[in-house]
Amino acid sequence: MEAQTPPEPVLEAAIRIESHLEDADERSLADDVLDGLTRPFKEIPPKHFYDARGAELFDRICELPEYYPTRAEREILEQRAQEIAQLTGAAELVELGSGTASKTRVLLDALNAAGTLRRYVPVDVTESMVRECASELTDEYPGLYVHGVIADFERHLDRVPPAAGARIVAFLGGTIGNFPPGSRRRFLREIAALLGRDDHLLLGTDLVKDPAVLEAAYDDAQGVTAEFNRNVLRVLNRELGADFELDDFEHVAVFDREHEWIEMRLRARRAHTTHVRDLDLPVRFEEGEEMRTEISAKFTDARIDGDLSAAGLELVQRFTDSDGLFALTLARRRANAPARSSQ
Ligand SMILES: C[S@@+](CC[C@H](N)C(=O)[O-])C[C@H]1O[C@@H](n2cnc3c(N)ncnc32)[C@H](O)[C@@H]1O
Repeated sequence: MEAQTPPEPVLEAAIRIESHLEDADERSLADDVLDGLTRPFKEIPPKHFYDARGAELFDRICELPEYYPTRAEREILEQRAQEIAQLTGAAELVELGSGTASKTRVLLDALNAAGTLRRYVPVDVTESMVRECASELTDEYPGLYVHGVIADFERHLDRVPPAAGARIVAFLGGTIGNFPPGSRRRFLREIAALLGRDDHLLLGTDLVKDPAVLEAAYDDAQGVTAEFNRNVLRVLNRELGADFELDDFEHVAVFDREHEWIEMRLRARRAHTTHVRDLDLPVRFEEGEEMRTEISAKFTDARIDGDLSAAGLELVQRFTDSDGLFALTLARRRANAPARSSQ
């Protein structure tokens, strides 16, 4: 028998990026717009805010004096990242809706200092964000592998690569609040399917508080949030050949006290009809008619625990900032929940 040469060891590149959007994503925008703009109460899902300009505007929102969630969540991470690193012993951080990963660095620092960090997996719809943050982070953390996934986390969670050791799945920024309650629990169940016995979810949630504070956070004095809200109309004009006049719509942010969520809407300043060319769709707006562009649910401890429980998860520890504005919840699968799917 001939001696066989052992295969060459395969060296993993520091950066690997996969995109799962392309044509399917354009169809999803078209489907969402057709569905949303023909409803009795018009609506466009918030994921369509985030083209490169929308992502840049969101970064500016995070710096605004009225927008406390980013600062509060960062404070929690700065105080507690070391503890989170110890509790989880995580080798990998998967981050859903990773954006610029600016707060994430606090967590990466702690995992790095603990000596466990090996891989970061950012998942975001905005391609430029995933690419830029991959190259920045591999520079900042020598030896770190970044496996970027350009994808819609509502449709492509199964594309998250198999775990490379104990993992944290982080969903920060309060983005979970963009889901209405039923979809939120369904989505948490899908996240739970990414977790094995040694893995954790780290979930950022904005907390219920004085409506005036909440409304100011979504309607700042400089008008950056208004610009961010109207940016979705630019996306529709560019991607679907719509002819929205941005000045025809004003930004509205109201706290719905019954559901305890903020609603962002665009209100038509005058009665008019716009056309979405690619869908051959005329859309009539009456004067004062409002179109919903985002809900952002606010949480109590009971609401978070109810959602975790419905998703087969259990609380490990909850952390809040010094003013009690925001919560970061560390959770894991309940012992009797079925094992990680596909891994
Ligand atoms: C509110 S920002 C939060 C960014 C960052 N995690 C933070 O805490 O500052 C939401 C991020 O989620 C991304 N995003 C929104 N909907 C998404 C979806 N359906 N799939 C993947 N990414 C999405 C956006 O591109 C954006 O980067």
